[in-house]
Amino acid sequence: MTRAEHMRADSGRPPVAVGEVGVAGAVGDAAGTTQPVPLVEFHGLTKEFPAGTEKLQVLKGLDLTIRRGEFVMIMGKSGSGKTTLLNIIGMLDRASAGQFSFDGTAVEQMKETERCEVRNSKVGFVFQQFFLIDSLNVSQNVSLPMVFSGRVSSAEQRRCAQKYLDLVGLGEKARRRVTELSGGQQQRVAIARSLVNDPLLIMADEPTGALDTETGEAIMEILRRLNRQGKTVVMVTHDEDMTRYATRVVRMKDGVITGDAPGGSASVMSAATATDTPVTGAVGVGTCVDAGTYSPAVLSSHETEVCA
Ligand SMILES: Nc1ncnc2c1ncn2[C@@H]1O[C@H](COP(=O)(O)OP(=O)(O)OP(=O)(O)O)[C@@H](O)[C@H]1O
Ligand SMILES: [Mg+2]
Repeated sequence: MTRAEHMRADSGRPPVAVGEVGVAGAVGDAAGTTQPVPLVEFHGLTKEFPAGTEKLQVLKGLDLTIRRGEFVMIMGKSGSGKTTLLNIIGMLDRASAGQFSFDGTAVEQMKETERCEVRNSKVGFVFQQFFLIDSLNVSQNVSLPMVFSGRVSSAEQRRCAQKYLDLVGLGEKARRRVTELSGGQQQRVAIARSLVNDPLLIMADEPTGALDTETGEAIMEILRRLNRQGKTVVMVTHDEDMTRYATRVVRMKDGVITGDAPGGSASVMSAATATDTPVTGAVGVGTCVDAGTYSPAVLSSHETEVCA
């Protein structure tokens, strides 16, 4: 039995082998009902940061399972540990202790390169500050994850970027500088960038935090649509209003989970899991590939189609 299976058995659910995951992202349980597959599971997760001669414990033994197709909103006061948790789930940072499995694989046992690969191919990131590169045009910003992967021809990069720019309603802005765009448009570019690897999971840390209410709603509508098309979304927010977009709301206080309840969109979750999209992922937002990996020789030997 794998460690991930043990974790499921410990939590009272029947063990599910990773290989049983179907395109729909759901498996049958002992009662014959369809259960979405766990994507993220952790038990006893802790995170400490050095603070002088002491250690500051920011996450204090968290247990959580996030299943495919969920739209999980993580809420809590400033300093409660939301971003720290998001960074660990997205494999941008490591936990200090505890068990953590992503898509059935124990993360703490992965080598750094393996962790980078999983992150790049399975996780897309959207941040409050957008993190776009001003000197590149919109299409080039969206293409960046494919550039880092070093496996996609420039023609395919442009085609793929255009596809996701069309999806977020910015198809006509492909050649514009990002500095010419509004905040809401820049966040849509960041969402398009997060999608080019066709990730299983979209992580969003206060994606509407820098936007006015109306623009923020437009961004939330895009995330909701992506969720209903099968993407699992984990989002941090301070805004109670946003919980209507979530299928589940997890509340944190001082590094512990204090609440876990259905969100306003809980009733549509089964529809989302039923349309879970297959993973074709070859690329991601992470920048852990050396710049030298992006070379004509690598491109010609590894070119691949990433857009369906
Ligand atoms: N790299 C770090 N080194 C030391 N302490 C850190 C580090 N990152 C976060 N912390 C501390 O961990 C605690 C939780 O921080 P975190 O950023 O996760 O909070 P948050 O819930 O996201 O807050 P906010 O809502 O303000 O974004 C804070 O006390 C913070 O100062
Ligand atoms: Mg934060």
